[in-house]
Amino acid sequence: MKDALLAENLRKTYKLPGAAPIRVFDGVSLRVAPGERVAVLGRSGSGKSTLLNILGGLDRPDPGTGARVEVAGLDLLGCGERRRAAMRARNIGFVFQAFHLLPELTVLENVRLPAMAHGGVGRHEAEERARRLLEAAGLGGRLEHRPAELSGGERQRVAVARALLNAPSLLLADEPTGNLDGQTGMQILDLVFDLPSAVSGEAPALVMVTHSREVAARCNRTATLRDGALTFG
Ligand SMILES: Nc1ncnc2c1ncn2[C@@H]1O[C@H](COP(=O)(O)OP(=O)(O)O)[C@@H](O)[C@H]1O
Ligand SMILES: [Mg+2]
Repeated sequence: MKDALLAENLRKTYKLPGAAPIRVFDGVSLRVAPGERVAVLGRSGSGKSTLLNILGGLDRPDPGTGARVEVAGLDLLGCGERRRAAMRARNIGFVFQAFHLLPELTVLENVRLPAMAHGGVGRHEAEERARRLLEAAGLGGRLEHRPAELSGGERQRVAVARALLNAPSLLLADEPTGNLDGQTGMQILDLVFDLPSAVSGEAPALVMVTHSREVAARCNRTATLRDGALTFG
């Protein structure tokens, strides 16, 4: 079976004018099986967000290191921006610490949004799926509300539903519980784990950045970024 995610030889250097380049990591490789959950740990500034953005095609690794990023067998690096954006929309869901909902859109519109870009599921199916996801997330009564009318935990529920709209094979979550109290955070984790099956989908593979050992313990594997390298176990 294809890996849900295959990343090899990733190096990332930030070069800012007038300053010494910052080498964030070098030689990072990661392989994730379908449905597998991997927690990424590491202190602040160790490069966790940078790594997640590269795994999801939102950022690119340094050229010339033989770097490879494949999601469900699709090559994210060897194609143009348009095609990468389409692959991202269809195969990858993102959840961020700060929710990143669009404030002017309703809850339902926010969740439907990934279907608009790059034609994932059709319009009618997107509407149906968004409603089912929100219902299963306990937000069936809040479809027409704006994000500002919701609590932090509710906003993150909306963000998780949105990330799952196109039934991605890979879910990337960057400290999804970081802005929430412990109990609310655990409920979000339950949702991340259980929501796909509630709408008759396969659970996506998950790569989740977290500072919480308790959260990491609910994953199959732990990877730690330290001094520019990723170690497992
Ligand atoms: N766009 C950027 N330009 C320059 N440096 C950056 C940029 N983004 C992150 N960095 C630097 O790269 C390092 C890793 O950042 P980040 O990936 O956000 O770490 P983490 O998510 O583990 O806290 C930090 O030293 C940070 O200052
Ligand atoms: Mg970060």
